Amino acid sequence: MNNKKIAKLNLPNGKVIELPVISGSLGPDVIDITSLYRQADMFTFDPGFTSTGSCKSDITFIDGDQGILLHRGYKIEDLAEKSSFLETSYLLMYGDLPSKEKKLEFVNSITMHTMLNEQISNFYRGFKDNAHPMAILCGVVGAMAAFYHDSTDINNADERKIASYRLIAKMPTIAAMAYKFSIGQPFVYPNNSLNYSENFLNMVFSVPAEKYEINPIFADALDKILILHADHEQNASTSTVRLAGSSGANPFACIAAGIASLWGPAHGGANEAVIKMLNEIESIDNIKKFIDKAKDKNDSFRLMGFGHRVYKNYDPRARVLQKIAEKVLKEKHLLDNKLFDLAKELEYLALNDDYFKEKKLYPNVDFYSGIILKAIGFPVSLFTVIFAVARTVGWISHWNEMISDQNSKIGRPRQLYTGKPQRELS
Ligand code: SDX
Repeated sequence: MNNKKIAKLNLPNGKVIELPVISGSLGPDVIDITSLYRQADMFTFDPGFTSTGSCKSDITFIDGDQGILLHRGYKIEDLAEKSSFLETSYLLMYGDLPSKEKKLEFVNSITMHTMLNEQISNFYRGFKDNAHPMAILCGVVGAMAAFYHDSTDINNADERKIASYRLIAKMPTIAAMAYKFSIGQPFVYPNNSLNYSENFLNMVFSVPAEKYEINPIFADALDKILILHADHEQNASTSTVRLAGSSGANPFACIAAGIASLWGPAHGGANEAVIKMLNEIESIDNIKKFIDKAKDKNDSFRLMGFGHRVYKNYDPRARVLQKIAEKVLKEKHLLDNKLFDLAKELEYLALNDDYFKEKKLYPNVDFYSGIILKAIGFPVSLFTVIFAVARTVGWISHWNEMISDQNSKIGRPRQLYTGKPQRELS
């Protein structure tokens, strides 16, 4: 008995076509429509890809209804509690947690690539001093394509590896330099005696004029924030990196494309937008007014940090971030933090509102992350930059997975044409 699953499609012209149904290891089956156009002379239509799988992947699994997020099978809550960002990076890239030796080798390799080619620092002086750090990050990462020519042959696994390590290692350096430039302070070089998150704090907050004491609570909180933002399946920026990479483009240019996509307020830019929204709400008395605005169809306002294309339950990352926020605010004796109190009350009122319950809108990863980053001392303009620093390993892991797949093809969607029929130019 042929146990292959199929889906039958009855076409308007009476033809019935059969399409294979494929099962993954977790999650819903998919209908393979690769042959649809050839069989039916029709395309599918799914702007926003709400019902479309773009690829096979072994890296991350999300169950939006249950609020489950797995990286190579491990729960995000467990990784945030027990792993480190670089260990999780190794897991995302290679598929398994590293042995003690492999972890040491990986950490040392990343550490040996934290410095930038000194010429790259000239780019910063070309920006206006009020340039948004995401604009600088986008520009400088793209410019890396003009420097590291020995790591751009995407068909060479060793070159792909060195390009990947350079990006993971240099993103904190590039990000910190963007911040230093914006406040007119000297760049701080990486310090290879510090771990990844300590080094980032040092490059952002230390100044040559005095000793900088790294707060271990803040370094640990930052490392967990990086873990929680490292990867998230086929989100907009990861899909951007995959599509850019599918043409064989330079790896640094592909990551720059991912940074550009992440910057949007509907995606990674939401963490910055949440803080701006909470400041605009200003008082618990105003929350109901803003919730009503978010529900008003004629008002484009949305509760930033709420809702998600996939999660129709609580984003598991938001739960962990709320706990981290409590810990960091306690460290700073800020437990009566106005923004945090506002966020918790907003969450409580929204989650008890029929509109949000009916549309299954819950806090997402961006709702509490900004409160933590602000309490550590990061400016709001760096929030999405920190998201990009973390997500680089996710982008890189998906890029490598796609390039290593012998069957991968250039991404080239079709369309429903609604323009003018052919007409003569008189
Ligand atoms: C990230 O994809 C990922 O995985 C992304 C991410 C990752 O790690 O990579 O998880 C990171 O980007 C998190 C999301 C951050 N963005 C925000 O917090 C911005 C606010 N949220 C929304 O704009 C929205 O919820 C999206 C963009 C996140 C999801 O939008 P969808 O899936 O396209 O859903 P939708 O816009 O179709 O909304 C469904 C309904 C709509 O009402 P109807 O048209 O059906 O009447 O819910 C409403 C929306 O109006 N709605 C909201 C809302 N989000 C959705 N209403 C009020 N406030 C909101 N925040």
